[in-house]
Amino acid sequence: MGLIPQHFIQDLLNRVDIVDLIDSRVPLKKAGANYKACCPFHGEKTPSFNVSQSKQFYHCFGCGANGNAISFLMEYDRLEFPDAVEELASSLGLEVPREVGNDNRPKIDNSLYDLMTKIANFYQQQLRTPSGQKAVNYLKNRGLSGEIAKQFGLGFVPDAWDSLEKLFGSFAQNPKLKQQLIDCGMLIQKEGDAARVYDRFRDRIMFPIKDKRGRVIAFGGRVMGDGEPKYLNSPETPIFHKSNELYGLYQARQANRNLARILIVEGYMDVVALAQFGITNAVATLGTATTASHLQQLFRTSRELVLCFDGDKAGRKAALKALEHGLPQLREGRDIKLMFLPDGEDPDSMVRKVGKEQFTKLIEQSEPIFDFLLKHLSAQVDLKTVSGRGQLVHLAKPYLDKITDPIYHQLFSQALAETSGIAPDKLDSLVSQSSANSQSPVQTVSNPQQMARTKAVSQKKVNKSIQLAITLLLQEPQLGLTIDGYDWLLSLNQTGPKILHKLLEIIHQNPNLTSGALLEFWRQDKLYPRLAEMAMIEREARIKGQEAQELNDCMAKLLTEARNSRLDFLQQKASNKSLTSAEKAEFQQLLLLAKGQK
Ligand code: GTP
Ligand code: MN
Repeated sequence: MGLIPQHFIQDLLNRVDIVDLIDSRVPLKKAGANYKACCPFHGEKTPSFNVSQSKQFYHCFGCGANGNAISFLMEYDRLEFPDAVEELASSLGLEVPREVGNDNRPKIDNSLYDLMTKIANFYQQQLRTPSGQKAVNYLKNRGLSGEIAKQFGLGFVPDAWDSLEKLFGSFAQNPKLKQQLIDCGMLIQKEGDAARVYDRFRDRIMFPIKDKRGRVIAFGGRVMGDGEPKYLNSPETPIFHKSNELYGLYQARQANRNLARILIVEGYMDVVALAQFGITNAVATLGTATTASHLQQLFRTSRELVLCFDGDKAGRKAALKALEHGLPQLREGRDIKLMFLPDGEDPDSMVRKVGKEQFTKLIEQSEPIFDFLLKHLSAQVDLKTVSGRGQLVHLAKPYLDKITDPIYHQLFSQALAETSGIAPDKLDSLVSQSSANSQSPVQTVSNPQQMARTKAVSQKKVNKSIQLAITLLLQEPQLGLTIDGYDWLLSLNQTGPKILHKLLEIIHQNPNLTSGALLEFWRQDKLYPRLAEMAMIEREARIKGQEAQELNDCMAKLLTEARNSRLDFLQQKASNKSLTSAEKAEFQQLLLLAKGQK
């Protein structure tokens, strides 16, 4: 299917009223200009969940959840973006159009899902045949109950090269089916004789892998003895992308109305064994490290993620790797914790050894992400020496830089300052020197010349203007219509002015946008959380009716800055005697303008 055109998304956001949408799921109460409720995304007794009708945006001051109507459906109904759009469209009786042409993604053949389900059922039935008896024995030996095997749809594939042909009938009669089975990774074409095919999976215990909607999209197959490989997984196919999927997520969501916490483990067997012991919130990555996409998905379902690792060195290394993906995703109301098992144990063996209660205790005692990070980094230096403490700061910097949430950033800085004994303000400057990836869209990339003190002061003012202008436009997009001629912003070659330019451009093209619809243009952007926050902050000393003037003042300040920096540039160039005549004229004019301002 093609991409959903942006104009349709805008149209949709324009037609729907976020207050009705949310009110139908979470009853809202009018409170001043806004509507309020207890936040559906975190537990609370007094309402801090705000919905603004004029902005078409919601924001929880307790947990930081925010967004427009599409975001709400994604979070509340746990839908992926396109599904949320479909849902919203169908509630308005609209058909979602798709762009043709510029979409290179392979078309998904929906019947692949049906085929995979048929195969999963077939594998399950095989457990009840005489040849399947050894598989049943294997599962029993591993302590699995028939009930849990059934719940996870475990099956058995016989020791044959042509089980699928036996199931579906001769492929010679049905080349399309054969191709589909190749496409979904179940058949392999013979080398040198592509017309001949054989089953990928033979003589294994089969674990069907389901997507979030419960459709079978792949299999993991385990040998029953010591054969190699121990686990064989489906390859990447149009319906299976290993690094996006999590084994057991569907079952975990089925078993729990609210998944407050998710445990991430390594193995299929771990998920199944834990579920058998009543720990129904475990999921496993599919033989890959935990990816950013995994964490992102899980945070959509749950606020607390506990990553479970082996207690050995490899486990700690894997934990650090996972943290690199985890740190940028932290924000208020989201938590990542780490759990390390004793050497030689995995969750499967551990839960069988200590039982549900004790295992649950272990989960509850898991280590907060920053405690682990500090402990791990501190162990690499000698904290008794000054240089050791300095080293700690340097080791920690790359991690600190990955934390985009200002509050978490602050918390980790504080913890780091305490451990290193380096005063927090010193630490800040130490750290900001090295952090090129700014947390604020309005931070500028400074070169040594710009570092001069006077410049730094004026830069601060400029940053303030940019920040204020962005905030004003995000909160009241129509203000932007009063601004004409803003292409010069691009000459300021910084992130902030570029955002400002993009905002103005969008507002001029879509004069009736609400804040919620405006933010939609940044959904995929890493700046989105910051911008969403700016759209909701209460500005202090805000005088109603003065906003247009405020915006104008900001723009005037920025224009002066743009001219001055152009002037600096031409001045420098002139000192090398290489101005063109056009540049000379521009220089003269800029000088005049600069005089006029004084
Ligand atoms: P059991 O030995 O059955 O208890 O499985 P386990 O889950 O404890 O196995 P292990 O800790 O060795 O592996 C964890 C996960 O890594 C498995 O669930 C698989 O997803 C993956 N894995 C393990 N071995 C292989 C292999 O040989 N090939 C592939 N592709 N993946 C594997
Ligand atoms: Mn195991």
